[in-house]
Amino acid sequence: MLKTKSFLSFKEQRVYEIFNSIAPRYDVTNLIMSLGIHHYWRKKLIQSLSLSKGCTILDLCCGTGAVAQDLARLIGTGGQVVGVDFSEAMLSIAKDRESRCPTQNPIRWIRANALDLPFPDGSFDCITIAYGLRNLTDIPRALAEMGRVLKPDGQIAILEMAVPEHPVIKRLHRLYLNGWVPILGNLLSHNRKAYQYLYESIRSFPHPDRICRLLEDTGFIHIRCLRLTWGIVALYTGRKRPE
Ligand SMILES: C[S@@+](CC[C@H](N)C(=O)[O-])C[C@H]1O[C@@H](n2cnc3c(N)ncnc32)[C@H](O)[C@@H]1O
Repeated sequence: MLKTKSFLSFKEQRVYEIFNSIAPRYDVTNLIMSLGIHHYWRKKLIQSLSLSKGCTILDLCCGTGAVAQDLARLIGTGGQVVGVDFSEAMLSIAKDRESRCPTQNPIRWIRANALDLPFPDGSFDCITIAYGLRNLTDIPRALAEMGRVLKPDGQIAILEMAVPEHPVIKRLHRLYLNGWVPILGNLLSHNRKAYQYLYESIRSFPHPDRICRLLEDTGFIHIRCLRLTWGIVALYTGRKRPE
């Protein structure tokens, strides 16, 4: 059951169907399309956090659970990692992955909409979201919801694809995403449309400066944006303003 009060909007339903359909081949497709660099990006996301033993972490749009599992290994027994995603197919792979390689403290997997989280205010010390924000239909609302469930002074780390600034890299990046990725997506996942959506979602995602301003407007402080791998990925970090 979707632990959320609202129904999915038309656009959310489309995103949901895309991810549910590509879930079984998501990890292998990701590995091939990113040429394995996604491991490095995930490592950078985790290294950006200062985690204490026993902290509570929410991994939003957790997909097949790779980030949540790395986090659970890091914080050990006293802490709790919660993985949230609205795709049951993604969550089922995340649970399988965890059962093959269990962490000391089991991860809680919850099916919910990131725009309407089923947690009380101030529940978490830290929130991570990797490649999820650009799929959400209302970014200011998503950030506000993250701010709501985060404790004062809690950390946020957002990993997201971006459009590179350098004109040559930008051109190559567009050719790769618009030309090769749908072909690869079709070969690996038999789903060309889902990988056409990838390009669409990256192209229409706001510029990193705008994301930083939105974070600021939502009440986050110490905001930093680190561009990785020629700027094709951006890592945003910040803290919720203490009360
Ligand atoms: C590109 S995948 C990223 C998965 C994972 N974080 C990773 O690092 O590979 C985006 C995920 O966001 C989820 N998602 C998209 N919109 C969502 C929403 N409104 N609420 C919850 N999950 C959502 C999708 O189901 C999908 O699993």
